[in-house]
Amino acid sequence: MTRIISTHSYRGGTGKSTITANVAYLLAKQGHRVGVVDTDILSPGIHVLFGLDADAARFTLNDYLWGRCSITEAAIDVTAQAFPDGGNGKGSINLLPSSMQAGEIARVLKEGFEVDLLNDGFQTLSEKLALDYLLIDTHPGVNEETLLSIAISDTLLLVLRPDHQDYQGTAVTLELARRLDVPQLLLVVNKALPSFDAKQLSDRVSTAFRTPVAAVLPLTEDLVRLGSSGILSALSPQSVYSQALRPVVDLVQA
Ligand SMILES: Nc1ncnc2c1ncn2[C@@H]1O[C@H](COP(=O)(O)OP(=O)(O)OP(=O)(O)O)[C@@H](O)[C@H]1O
Ligand SMILES: [Mg+2]
Repeated sequence: MTRIISTHSYRGGTGKSTITANVAYLLAKQGHRVGVVDTDILSPGIHVLFGLDADAARFTLNDYLWGRCSITEAAIDVTAQAFPDGGNGKGSINLLPSSMQAGEIARVLKEGFEVDLLNDGFQTLSEKLALDYLLIDTHPGVNEETLLSIAISDTLLLVLRPDHQDYQGTAVTLELARRLDVPQLLLVVNKALPSFDAKQLSDRVSTAFRTPVAAVLPLTEDLVRLGSSGILSALSPQSVYSQALRPVVDLVQA
């Protein structure tokens, strides 16, 4: 059975794509077969962390949604790009990018798409690639495909910054996720100032939202320097960010 993990936040720029790419890498490093889908069709980006030029991809998620290819034809094996040391020969990462072409994005905005196709596609992809985990990177805020992603998830990683706008938005998303009966709801606090007491912040947030906090990730210069040009957990496993993310990877496998 494939376990579906969605990463979401009410507001943008919280660190979803970075967390998704790093969790994908850490799961693959442990020998798992991982799929990553960029459902952020309106502002895709996670392919950049895997060193992929979305324009160079033969097919994208958009092509699948418009019936131009099968879902598996749009999947790209990015294991070699993710593993600087060549990988362990067991774990793998297949990425389904979204199109970066303005015309494609405009078409989705104008015409919308059949959201059920996403669900069918996820199931086919999971079966055909024998995935252990399917990670879904989402568009911020609440829309139809986000609701679908949340509804079919075994785990929802809800990312928030220590910011009052994020707090209010997180309450809204949590309420939705509870109504949708997501089996495992985990909060991830990102971009916490390193001077913050992580334990205290974690306790405060988990109490306020009555939801476990899987990790408090520090705001770090390492990621700013990297500028989304790679996966920090692969390039610098000892960095504070990579270390702080480990409990998330343990919890999603529990
Ligand atoms: N802990 C962190 N410390 C410093 N920079 C970070 C941290 N986490 C993420 N970033 C940076 O913040 C920016 C936004 O991150 P990312 O793209 O992962 O967010 P997102 O939630 O996916 O954004 P969007 O809502 O636009 O999809 C990136 O430049 C990323 O490198
Ligand atoms: Mg993103």
